[in-house]
Amino acid sequence: MDDATRDPTSKLRHIEACLTRPVEYVRTAGFEAYELPNEALPELSLADLDLSCKLAGRSLRAPLMIAPMTGGTEKGRAINRRLAVAAECHGLALGVGSQRIALEDPSLAAWFEVRDVAPSVPLFANLGAAQLALGYGPDEARRAVAMIGADALFVHLNPMQEALQGTACDFRGVASRLEQICRDLARDGIPVFAREVCFGMTEQTARRLAECGVSGIDCSGAGGTSWAKVEAHCAVTARERERALRFGEWGIATCESIQNVRRALPSMPLIASGGVRSGADIAKAIALGADLAAMARPLLLKADESENALHQFIEELIADLRTCMFATGSGTVPALRGKLRPASQPARAHRAGRAS
Ligand SMILES: Cc1cc2nc3c(=O)[nH]c(=O)nc-3n(C[C@H](O)[C@H](O)[C@H](O)COP(=O)(O)O)c2cc1C
Repeated sequence: MDDATRDPTSKLRHIEACLTRPVEYVRTAGFEAYELPNEALPELSLADLDLSCKLAGRSLRAPLMIAPMTGGTEKGRAINRRLAVAAECHGLALGVGSQRIALEDPSLAAWFEVRDVAPSVPLFANLGAAQLALGYGPDEARRAVAMIGADALFVHLNPMQEALQGTACDFRGVASRLEQICRDLARDGIPVFAREVCFGMTEQTARRLAECGVSGIDCSGAGGTSWAKVEAHCAVTARERERALRFGEWGIATCESIQNVRRALPSMPLIASGGVRSGADIAKAIALGADLAAMARPLLLKADESENALHQFIEELIADLRTCMFATGSGTVPALRGKLRPASQPARAHRAGRAS
């Protein structure tokens, strides 16, 4: 996700762009096109709903992951640790950002360490497909996992972003390298998940990833943070910036991406990210076929604001998800599956915000 070895400040520039610039898609993730059906006779207790789920062999208290973002700078370290404390406190899963920089300079490993403050959460290490194309394999994958005491590894697939960064961008051989990593890490009991970073996935990609042996997928789609826009704001020349902006709305919307993967792989563990912005979005993502949802930029903004702002935001998200479950008669997370219908008045729902 970063070209930190070419430019050590790039990760910081990504964070600054995400904190201060208009980097979100204009188009939506698609959640407003659906509504959760009200159940007038739920026969449930709001306080007794079971929001728990499992990921990478660990338990979560709610079906939410703090999506991989950062770690590659001093500021990234502080943000990661704040996110990790919140993940531990609320029982959420957590991913760190691309560890490439620390694999190339092991003295920087501390930038990614969070296990001391998040001992019980499902923790994901992170490597990019671009590094696989350059020769990273099972050794580097194992080192990334060991560096942070992770339970699993994310390999992020971001061809569009790499193309906009102007790298050599040769993705030939990535699938076979991924296959090798999945096979090797399976021997150590480490699951490997593949993820997009916001451009979504087709059914065909999902099937190919399953053939590679991935244990799960984050289908991260369009409608939230646009990595083409982030790259535009980080571009050095006007020409690079304009080119990146031309792709600012590129991608498969998250709602479609979820359904693509679920159609192709009915039982693959599936995380939904990209434009998840509310408790109702989490419920809808699960109703559409995801097992849990993940969120990146909104949590970065809150973490940057204060520890308290982050905690309150997560509390509200989970409270709203709980309310959605109660009011749809869903006593457990899997009970949400399929509880969705086309919005009767999408235009009005859209104007009123994205809460329902
Ligand atoms: C500041 C920032 C840095 C990110 N870095 C990474 C990364 O290193 N690896 C990765 O897999 N995804 C990375 N992402 C992508 C997110 O995990 C997520 O897929 C994407 O931002 C869409 O989610 P959102 O709309 O909730 O922001 C990053 C996101 C942000 C905001």
